[in-house]
Amino acid sequence: MRTHYCTEVTENNIDQTVTVAGWVNSRRDHGGLIFIDLRDKGGLVQLVCDPADNKEAHSIAENVRDEFVLIATGKVRARGEGLENPNLITGKIEIVVDNLIIENRSKPMPFDLNDLKVNEEIKLRNRFLELRGKKSYDIFKLRSKANIAIRNCLNDMDFLDVETPILTKSTPEGARDYLVPSRVHHGEFYALPQSPQLFKQLLMVSGFDKYFQIAKCFRDEDLRADRQPEFTQIDVEMSFCTQDDVIKVCEKVIHDTFTACGFDVPSTFPRMTYNDAMELYGSDKPDMRYDLKMVEVSDIFDFCTLDIFSNIAKDKVKNRIKALKVPNGDNIFSKRQMKGFEDFVRKFGASGLGYFQMKEDGLKGPLNKFFVDTPEKLDELVERCEMKVGDIIFFGAGEKKLVWDYMGRLRIELANQMGLIDKDKFEFLWVVDFPMFESEDGKTKALHHPFTMPNLEKCDLDNIDDLESIESIAYDVVLNGTELGGGSLRIHKSDIQAKVFKLMGISDEEAKEKFGFLLDALEFGAPPHGGFALGFDRMIMLMAGTDSIRDVIAFPKTQKAQCLLTQAPSSVDDEQLKELSLRIRQQIQA
Ligand code: AMO
Repeated sequence: MRTHYCTEVTENNIDQTVTVAGWVNSRRDHGGLIFIDLRDKGGLVQLVCDPADNKEAHSIAENVRDEFVLIATGKVRARGEGLENPNLITGKIEIVVDNLIIENRSKPMPFDLNDLKVNEEIKLRNRFLELRGKKSYDIFKLRSKANIAIRNCLNDMDFLDVETPILTKSTPEGARDYLVPSRVHHGEFYALPQSPQLFKQLLMVSGFDKYFQIAKCFRDEDLRADRQPEFTQIDVEMSFCTQDDVIKVCEKVIHDTFTACGFDVPSTFPRMTYNDAMELYGSDKPDMRYDLKMVEVSDIFDFCTLDIFSNIAKDKVKNRIKALKVPNGDNIFSKRQMKGFEDFVRKFGASGLGYFQMKEDGLKGPLNKFFVDTPEKLDELVERCEMKVGDIIFFGAGEKKLVWDYMGRLRIELANQMGLIDKDKFEFLWVVDFPMFESEDGKTKALHHPFTMPNLEKCDLDNIDDLESIESIAYDVVLNGTELGGGSLRIHKSDIQAKVFKLMGISDEEAKEKFGFLLDALEFGAPPHGGFALGFDRMIMLMAGTDSIRDVIAFPKTQKAQCLLTQAPSSVDDEQLKELSLRIRQQIQA
């Protein structure tokens, strides 16, 4: 219907007749002349309806309102001097309308499309209107470009795109499953896949060698700014590979995709062990855009005469005393802010937050008096933390996981408050050598999933004292403090898999019931294999520079996993329930 998109009309078209189509962004009536900013996917162009040129077009323009759908034909002319708009690509020209068709009308908008502060609920209820904005269009253009770059990159490396089932059996990614009741088999349920993990491993047993899929995954878990119940993974698996081979493929996918989208990123990323990440940054996904490292100082606190600290310092396996230096902090933070940091860490389980300030005449702080007999230990602290006059060090002391956690969070809070984060930077990092297991509420659980290969060069599965000491061949790729993806080499031998299940306390029956099909496959010549999955939505979120994953998903869900647009989830007819042999149990009043 059109000859040009709005933003394609330029000075090169002056004196030509063009037809444009789109939505009314705004309309201004200048007593006689009517100006309309017409908008399509690319941007705006100005239409002018002058009764002196064309009475009919002008009288139609009088009835035009915001967001009406128009098709306009007219001659392009240069804007008068001083009337140019440098903010628009089409700011030097306008179209003098000769023929104007109102193709459709629109009710008044439920919210101002250009107002960024509109309540999220209203926007999500009318998501198709929110998507009309140029910002949204640009995000989805980026997403589409990235999607194609990923496919091209993996296709060039001979990876085969294979789709795997959505109606399936539970997969072991550690979240709750979304369940779908079976109509044919009453009382039985499909689970939506938390990832294609088991299927991609089966494809390796089939000899496909290199698989990929841009796959939908479903996880019923507590939602956050970077989590959705339904999200997309770039899922990859390959055979006869080492960890380095997998990492290389992943780096190439990331590098090629970011490059295709116009970002300059390195082709290999630095690596750090899980242990170093926790000890230095208190997180397995440290943000490397700023420094702020933690330093272990429990040996210095052995000499502290305050029992709380010296007792914690005694057990160097279970506990940590970490110092976090803030350069120039003494000159930046007020007393109130210092108190604020203590309140901040208390929210995450800290019992307090110690500190020292580096003054002209040495370290000063509430803990000085507990080192009166050993002032040389304070000198050691100054040296180890490389303190300069004006610096502050904060201390966290206690059980190591707790200290890592709250000091890691404090590091991020400090970086935010001090403006240390360069929003234009991309800092990638591999975190490697993850532990195989973690304990949660007294239960041992696989940190990645139970098919991850333990590092057999560093442990003997028949002789294990401390489960948490077993390392796995698992790796995560981190971008700017967000876990972008993760993967591992997998167990491909059934005897090793059986030992791992045993260590986890999973019985043969339970293993058979849950993953019998994978275990069977391991008995039929499974090759060594491994892979990774990248969170595609997170990748686009970081590229687009937004801080919510919802911005990059066309029809996202709320924090409470609802789709406000379609009103899902919703109740269903009794008839449907009957077919499924289901009955809703009465809500039990609390
Ligand atoms: P994992 O569970 O680490 O690994 O997931 C891989 C990546 O998927 C993204 N992701 C999410 N994105 C949005 N919303 C969510 N709820 C969500 N959950 C995860 C993250 C994460 O790094 N099968 C393994 C991969 C493998 O071992 O090959 C897996 O799914 O960016």
